[in-house]
Amino acid sequence: YVIVQKYLHDLKAWNGLPIEEQEGIVGRKKLTDVELDDAVKPTSAHNALTTIIENGEQLEIVRDNMPFGDVGKGEFGTYFIGYARSPRRIEQMLENMFIGRPPGNYDRLLDFSRAVTGNLFFVPSATFLEKVATGEAMSTAGLGPSG
Ligand code: HEM
Repeated sequence: YVIVQKYLHDLKAWNGLPIEEQEGIVGRKKLTDVELDDAVKPTSAHNALTTIIENGEQLEIVRDNMPFGDVGKGEFGTYFIGYARSPRRIEQMLENMFIGRPPGNYDRLLDFSRAVTGNLFFVPSATFLEKVATGEAMSTAGLGPSG
């Protein structure tokens, strides 16, 4: 699956924040790109809320974000593109970001960014498509003529 969302940033407000506050929101040092130590990283940091550990295993996704801008329109943002085997883990990340973990402890990036579009797509793998071609996928998914 791939989830895409177009976020627009209020760069003026973001650039008005002291750098330490920006670093606390992202969870990483701005100039060195070094991740903040857990001892000082806020639990609301973007890279804290999007880290999900389940049964001792970190549930990761493939991220392919694209920054974009249109100087003429004064529009700047991030096109979020996230791939995962199941949409559930990306939805969990979104819940942590928007509702908060715990609720209320939300991602402060969202004070400066708003999603204006979004969609979830099924992205069939090559092996899945091969199975569709041979009819195997329908029977394994229980969708074949025999139900
Ligand atoms: C306004 C839109 C977004 C911006 C500007 C943004 C920016 C960033 C940045 C700068 C990082 C690097 C931080 C780091 O790795 O230490 C990051 C990491 C990450 N982001 Fe986002 N992001 C956005 C939306 C999202 C969304 C919607 C999701 C998931 C639903 C997401 C999931 C993640 C994940 C999983 C990481 C890696 C965290 C880690 O394990 O270190 N991001 N993002």
